[in-house]
Amino acid sequence: MNLTGGHGASVRIETCGKTFADGTRALERATLDIARGETLVLLGPSGCGKTTMLRIIAGLEVPDAGGRVLFDDKDMTSVPIERRNVGMVFQSYALFPNMSVADNIGYGLKIRGMGRQERAARVAELVALTNISGLENRRVNQLSGGQRQRVALARAVAIRPGILLLDEPLTALDAALRDRLRGELNRLLRALGITTIYVTHDQSEAMELASWLNSLVQRISSKPRSRTAILCCWADGSRSAARRASKPQSP
Ligand SMILES: Nc1ncnc2c1ncn2[C@@H]1O[C@H](COP(=O)(O)OP(=O)(O)OP(=O)(O)O)[C@@H](O)[C@H]1O
Ligand SMILES: [Mg+2]
Repeated sequence: MNLTGGHGASVRIETCGKTFADGTRALERATLDIARGETLVLLGPSGCGKTTMLRIIAGLEVPDAGGRVLFDDKDMTSVPIERRNVGMVFQSYALFPNMSVADNIGYGLKIRGMGRQERAARVAELVALTNISGLENRRVNQLSGGQRQRVALARAVAIRPGILLLDEPLTALDAALRDRLRGELNRLLRALGITTIYVTHDQSEAMELASWLNSLVQRISSKPRSRTAILCCWADGSRSAARRASKPQSP
């Protein structure tokens, strides 16, 4: 089993906005494209709709009428979350506290019916990849924040998702650990080749992950009469990034 190498899907968010039942306008209509294997960083202040956008991509929220979500040009708007092949790491880790590290990582594989032996091999590979060897049999509530973060990441990529959604995955950690994990995450994302959407409100984090930041920042989903906006930064010096660079949009 080889987890590395590209198997990402392209993503298109087409005029997706979100108004909740109580009238809260969580996300202004926005359109953006992410090429296969690219990392897109969504940068913006608290409350501007970053998590809402991830939840729309994952299938946890339905966009307002007229909005569409496409993976590899296929309309996924009404496809349920379990058929979208999306991995997600939430702002809080959302791990199962009483399960072991290995069982957490293998959970998605188990519910997909993967046999015990194959599952163990995949889990072992992920444990090595995310640097948590030796912790396999610990319960999650016996781990540090940084270790939990790694388990959450391993669990999200275990199912070999075409798209990985990371919602401020390092926010809960102290500054030194955040710096170290950010570097590791950057390398891991590039090795896996999964299309990734990474949410942060930390500009230096966005800079590190999205090497093309300066020329490629695009302001989307700006709420009228407010300073909140979602900025998108595309990472990877890929072809599509180069194409966008030829038509820079000012932030
Ligand atoms: N289920 C809901 N019902 C009503 N309003 C909601 C709901 N979920 C989110 N909101 C509101 O929508 C807006 C956007 O929320 P969202 O969680 O997407 O922000 P965010 O950019 O992720 O913020 P943060 O950086 O603090 O995580 C906020 O004003 C929030 O209070
Ligand atoms: Mg959020």
